[in-house]
Amino acid sequence: MDQAIIKNAVKAFAKNFALLLTESSLYPPQHPNVVAQTHQTLAALEDAFKIIPDIYLDIMEGQFAHEGIPLYEIKHTVEKVVQQLEIKSIRCICFKIGLTSQHLNFFVKLLSDKIKHLNAEGLEKELGQANIITIIVEKKRKKKADDNLGLLQADKVYGSSVEANKLVYSALQAGKALPLDVVDKVAQDITRLIAQDSSSSLALASLRSYDEYTFTHSANVAILSVTLASTLIDDPLILKRLARAAILHDIGKTKIPLKILNKPDKLDPVEWQLMQQHPLFGAQILEQQAGMDELSIIIASQHHMKYDLSGYPQIQHLAPLHPLSLVVNICDIYDAISSKRPYKNSLPCDKALSIMMRLIGCDFDPAFFKIFVQMMGIYPPGTLVRLNTLELAITKRAHPSALLLPQIKIIMNASGQLLNDPLTIDLSDSEQNKTQRSIEETVDPSLFGINPLDFI
Ligand SMILES: [Fe+2]
Ligand SMILES: [Fe+2]
Repeated sequence: MDQAIIKNAVKAFAKNFALLLTESSLYPPQHPNVVAQTHQTLAALEDAFKIIPDIYLDIMEGQFAHEGIPLYEIKHTVEKVVQQLEIKSIRCICFKIGLTSQHLNFFVKLLSDKIKHLNAEGLEKELGQANIITIIVEKKRKKKADDNLGLLQADKVYGSSVEANKLVYSALQAGKALPLDVVDKVAQDITRLIAQDSSSSLALASLRSYDEYTFTHSANVAILSVTLASTLIDDPLILKRLARAAILHDIGKTKIPLKILNKPDKLDPVEWQLMQQHPLFGAQILEQQAGMDELSIIIASQHHMKYDLSGYPQIQHLAPLHPLSLVVNICDIYDAISSKRPYKNSLPCDKALSIMMRLIGCDFDPAFFKIFVQMMGIYPPGTLVRLNTLELAITKRAHPSALLLPQIKIIMNASGQLLNDPLTIDLSDSEQNKTQRSIEETVDPSLFGINPLDFI
């Protein structure tokens, strides 16, 4: 079963369930709003049960999540309800096939009961006494079936994306047509992957090899752009078009001599003028391809134009930029700043973001940039960090609502010994983080001979 279909069904149910809890906190059970919302919730539940027998709603990062993936699109609808569930120490609710309207009503009543103030344990007990086994309340999140699977898939997609970029470049250099079928396949895979597991993709986008910057850059920009856009757009077709456009955004660089592209020193005025032509060269190349999507042409030509309409190429009487050009613009600059190049070191995410923050409103759309920061989480998945306890850890998952407190995996103790059994904790969870560990700084993994991908 397609993960995107499962996710959509769970999301529809989660949204209706949150609305039901909201209505039930305002009105009595017989009120028409509650009755109508109960029907809608049950209908969404039935739809989901046609696909999966058990629906696990995790509570993480101040929102509902499924299989470890936050359901960002319904964040605003559910956040108040989720806060209440968090206060009750509920971290996961499982709804099982066979659940009836009586079961649901009973559970909603328990959750809305202002007198008893039941926490997770109290709710479990009440459900048990009522012989309801179709709803299970847990204090721990459901562990993903295979945490490494997402990373392995992401690795495969990332590799094929880099290969597709190489094919595109070599086709152009040989004067052949672009292998658009290959690009489209990769765009489809990236879109699907991010719908399933954005954390694994973000980890790879942060940890790529710098030797092949020309090819990894486009893959990174595609992953970052689709992840950012997927928090705003629910349409897989548009996200796939964006992925394709992002893969091809720098295609105009094929017309720039390599000695200019890889020059370690500052470009002279003539070289810089030529370099500034690459967005228009890209648009021209794409326009010549039969059946090319207009979005790819627009983004190739606009990706160095800034939010305030400065940047390059300078065109008279500019219309507003395409919103997805503004998305690619942010991701393109981030990857360029943070990447290691022959003439500069890589920059950790927190430093790259702090540089970019100074350019909000001029270079970047403020609203998109805010979402980008939430998405990256200051310490994106795969960042090596030193803790206040002097332990070293790899960040695993960011929390949009607690950017400085991601989920981490501690891999080295304070004495510098690698742990045989790395410890995963959520810094934002006071129960898991009783010793109040916190992140002191980011650390260059090469100093310790560590490949963060081996640990996530
Ligand atoms: Fe560019
Ligand atoms: Fe670029």
